[in-house]
Amino acid sequence: MAKVFIPKEMRAGETRVAATPETVKRLLKLDLEITIEAGAGINAHFADVDYGTAGAAMATDREDAFSTADLVLCVNPPEASERALLREGAVIAGFLAPFDDLAVAQEFSDRKITSLAMELVPRISRAQSMDALSSQASIAGYKAVLLAALRLGKYFPLLMTAAGTIKPSRVVIMGAGVAGLQAVATARKLGALVEVSDIRPAVQEQVESLGGKFIALPMQESGEGKGGYAKEMTSDFLAKQREIVKKHLSAADVAITTALIPGRPAPKLITQDMVEAMAPGSVIVDLAVAQGGNCELSVKDQEVVHQGVLILGPSNLPASAMSRDSSILYARNLEALIALMIQDGELKIDLEDEVIAGSLVTHDGKVVNERAAALLEGGAS
Ligand code: NAI
Repeated sequence: MAKVFIPKEMRAGETRVAATPETVKRLLKLDLEITIEAGAGINAHFADVDYGTAGAAMATDREDAFSTADLVLCVNPPEASERALLREGAVIAGFLAPFDDLAVAQEFSDRKITSLAMELVPRISRAQSMDALSSQASIAGYKAVLLAALRLGKYFPLLMTAAGTIKPSRVVIMGAGVAGLQAVATARKLGALVEVSDIRPAVQEQVESLGGKFIALPMQESGEGKGGYAKEMTSDFLAKQREIVKKHLSAADVAITTALIPGRPAPKLITQDMVEAMAPGSVIVDLAVAQGGNCELSVKDQEVVHQGVLILGPSNLPASAMSRDSSILYARNLEALIALMIQDGELKIDLEDEVIAGSLVTHDGKVVNERAAALLEGGAS
């Protein structure tokens, strides 16, 4: 019977947990032995006693639980002190940020640790239930709109009152992937007028079906790159895009930015002069801040006020603003992935399964992810 350990997350500001009492119950049905660190779920409002009732054992000794585990489930990459405790042959799964610190991939490979990164789960229909990037991005998009609504000194909806009519707020959303589309839906539900800029043509219909208006751009070629993601656009195109979007921003009350390009810094879509064109009291929420930001003036996890415009740069809204539901969804994503690797209570890494193979960073003493391996060899990304 494989032993699973869920440690308490160590990263400052992290409130999520990789298993909930609900997923513990289901993982137990796969004939696994589950041990959780005391207090692991506390910041997501899951009490130790609820894990106990679900059937998990409480770790009495953290180091021992780490070093005897066959499978460790985590949210963030383990710290060096935690990695050192993993036994050879163990499996670890979580958001491992596989390209941030390649020395970790090398270390895992040297120590024959199998690592699966939730960021790498292929975005195919079969793996939708395991798509933690989407479950967490959707939360970020939703909360970004609520944050903006909270800080804006205006109503979102059109309001007819005895004292006269209030016009609806105008929201510009840049980037309509998972976070952006959830932001469109949320802002529309609150009654705002929503305009959207994206460079992938497929997005237009999705935006319109949610009640948003698509801002037309002078596309010479599609912005769609590999795997349905965006590709990096030329600086000329970005300059034209900024010029067009500036007009929309100057009439907007809120901007939510979510634009990303895999493996590249976030494109700069809102420059200082565009911020200055917005009315004082407007609010920008830059969700791309961890990748360098879409707004020139945003600062990670800080509030900046520039000529009366409030710029927020929350880098991890699922953790900072919605710990419980983000944990519930993330834990279900992990559980669905783990279920593919268990046979008769034992771990079996099936390299023929494209979901497993696509999610692996290291396995059997090798860095199996092609991009990580190429980066380690000093090759292209
Ligand atoms: P992302 O987080 O990588 O990027 C966010 C958005 O920014 C994208 O829509 C992108 O086109 C946009 N963007 C990039 N440069 C821009 C610019 N200069 N101006 C405006 N917007 C710009 O994307 P995310 O949310 O990870 O989704 C990527 C794709 O994956 C989408 O096509 C989505 O529908 C697809 N997807 C598929 C799933 C599945 O089939 N299971 C699940 C989730 C997403």
